[in-house]
Amino acid sequence: MAEIIDGKKISAQIKEEVKQEAERLLKEGVTVTLAVIQVGQDKASSVYVGNKKKACEYVGFRSLSYELPEETTMQELLDLVGELNGRMDVDGILVQLPLPAHISEEKVIQAISPDKDVDGFHVQNAGRLAVGIEGFVSCTPAGIIELLKRSGIEICGKECVVVGRSNIVGKPMAALLLRENGTVTVCHSRTKELDKITARADILVAALGKPKFITAEYVKEGAVVIDVGIHRGENNKLCGDVDFDSVAPKASYITPVPGGVGPMTIAMLMSNCLKSAKMRMDKS
Ligand code: GUN
Repeated sequence: MAEIIDGKKISAQIKEEVKQEAERLLKEGVTVTLAVIQVGQDKASSVYVGNKKKACEYVGFRSLSYELPEETTMQELLDLVGELNGRMDVDGILVQLPLPAHISEEKVIQAISPDKDVDGFHVQNAGRLAVGIEGFVSCTPAGIIELLKRSGIEICGKECVVVGRSNIVGKPMAALLLRENGTVTVCHSRTKELDKITARADILVAALGKPKFITAEYVKEGAVVIDVGIHRGENNKLCGDVDFDSVAPKASYITPVPGGVGPMTIAMLMSNCLKSAKMRMDKS
């Protein structure tokens, strides 16, 4: 039976570390500040944004909240991002996705200063990760690396298989595992004989967005299985992309849903904000 990787516990450790550093910066007169922008009232987004603001409060950051109406024009949003880019007292800018259909997410993300892009979505930060220079890394994959490292799981030389190729998770996940000297394969919806490839994995990251898709047949005996999915299943119960009951007896380590990868995303966001504030201090 697999050991459960406790994302709640590990994310709490990271937030505690960030909190201590934030206290230290506060003594030097620096208040770490994250600006959070939400356009419209998507229910899931409101929950995520609320959790981000709560996390800021917990670690001792200031959060600036911008709740804009659904009808906000792209220009109005770009103007706000521009204003926040120019403010010396703002360390991080987060525009919650998805945005309403009439606004180009791409244009808005690229308008955020790469130095304040604590989500790590800007093309400059994606490029930095691809070529191996310091920058902001997308929070969910960065959190997965922390889960592995803090659980004592070696990545170097391991067969790593990532299922999913999104810009937010799959692609940066592959780049990070490669940076840790894993041997990385990226699978996606057009991959043939997916089960044969995933069954090679020492470390399997499921980020395909299909509830309980990964069953025992997809998994090698003793593999480490990381579940990025989050879905509302039968009886309103949360589940991931991995069929936990089927896979857990075969894996060596597994992340649960909820309480696995999810809490790490916000912890890494806090960590990125801290990093941004330190970079700004070093520059001034
Ligand atoms: N929507 C869902 N996840 C995220 C995230 O990590 N960042 C932003 N900005 N929007 C999201």
